[in-house]
Amino acid sequence: MAVDVLLGLQWGDEGKGKIVDYLAKDYDLVCRFQGGPNAGHTIYVDGEKIVLHTIPSGIFHADLMNLIGNGVVIDPITLKMEVEKLLTHGVPVMDRLLLSQKAHMILPTHRMLDAASEASKGKDKIGSTLRGIGPTYMDKTGRNGLRIGDITTPDFIDKYEALKHKHLSLLEMYPEIEFDLAGEEEKWLSSIEFIKNIKSVSGEYYVNHALEKGQRILAEGAQGSMLDIDFGTYPFVTSSNTITSGVCNGLGIAPSRIKDVIGITKAYCTRVGSGPFPTELHDEVGEAIRQHGKEFGATTGRPRRCGWLDLVQLKYTCMLNGVTKIAMTKIDVLNEFESISVAESYIVDGKDTDELPFDLNDPTLEPVYTALPGWNTKTNSIRNRHDMPKPLSSYIKGIEKYLGTPVYYVSVGPGRDELFLNH
Ligand code: GDP
Ligand code: IMO
Ligand code: MG
Repeated sequence: MAVDVLLGLQWGDEGKGKIVDYLAKDYDLVCRFQGGPNAGHTIYVDGEKIVLHTIPSGIFHADLMNLIGNGVVIDPITLKMEVEKLLTHGVPVMDRLLLSQKAHMILPTHRMLDAASEASKGKDKIGSTLRGIGPTYMDKTGRNGLRIGDITTPDFIDKYEALKHKHLSLLEMYPEIEFDLAGEEEKWLSSIEFIKNIKSVSGEYYVNHALEKGQRILAEGAQGSMLDIDFGTYPFVTSSNTITSGVCNGLGIAPSRIKDVIGITKAYCTRVGSGPFPTELHDEVGEAIRQHGKEFGATTGRPRRCGWLDLVQLKYTCMLNGVTKIAMTKIDVLNEFESISVAESYIVDGKDTDELPFDLNDPTLEPVYTALPGWNTKTNSIRNRHDMPKPLSSYIKGIEKYLGTPVYYVSVGPGRDELFLNH
């Protein structure tokens, strides 16, 4: 069998958690392959909001397993809190969750380094979630990291102390930051004891054996393609490959195993943190999107920057990911708009282009918008594509034509069932 991939086509928060939860019933295994607790994936279960940071969004379904793959960075403190929260909701997490032995761990001092690095950048800060993501991936590529499989080795504490002291000496280069290291270290060590109760496996063998047995696998992306370390708006990106290619490294599967790539986009665009965002709206329209869409970060609570859909950007990320199906979320957020704009090209240096320039901060860059009539009616209860108001079906058809890819799933509310198929 093959692996299907679901990932974000914008700057994150496209609604991955909701769509994975919706699709999970068709799979035997859901796997996270990159990122870490910088992610916040929101799911409504029986009307209650739950935000997952490290645990895959298939966890609410019986009869399927969830794997945190080797490409993910795990903070034992966050993972313990997530597991405990799910246990109080009656989810038998321990029976449904596996950790890859090769996944790297976030230490308290990685979070200190993240905070100190951001503080030293001043106004040029990345706007990191401060979860220690960058420093942990740096230790991974620098070959210093600690992995889940190290927890049970006899010299684990020695390895931990050595890495911590290395971090403390690095921290001397940075501005001082407030951090209760002793308290966080105590929590971290007790969380390590807790996560020993979660089964750890060789993720690459587990996934490949599952494929041989004919199991269906869904790889769940975190962040979005515009935050990819190679192809995103560098340096305002995260520290992992968020695009389809990251699935191979982050799980240990061959590229030929990948079948469908479901790319998610909102009906408009948001970004949290610093960095270029060509279609950002600084006016009352942007504010209206933020309020209607409740655009406040699921991990940090920060207000998200809002703007119109950017088709130049989406075409780029469809290309990078090999998207076969699009899922479009938050259609309902635009219900009350008389007119909706989409960017169809950019003017850069006086020339019209439908390709992203090297520098999205280029001061000459101007998006070229097309204004389309809004549907101006409630869409939340649509469950059949034939019930779409005409302006909405034209909006979607126009996007499909531009991107050459079908908009297969249309989401019209945060709830599990607020969605319809468009094909
Ligand atoms: P993720 O990181 O991609 O999983 O997305 P987040 O959970 O960070 O943010 C998406 C937000 O939009 C969450 O609050 C979801 O509950 C919500 N959401 C998802 N789909 C829809 C939709 O179609 N309409 C509305 N109104 N909200 C949605
Ligand atoms: P999900 O999976 C939106 C952003 C941060 C910052 C940059 C780097 O919920 O879509 P990092 O903590 O990785 O060093 O931050 O990336 N960022 C996200 N933005 N959604 C996310 O995840 C994000 N994860 C990181 O705001 O700009
Ligand atoms: Mg999110």
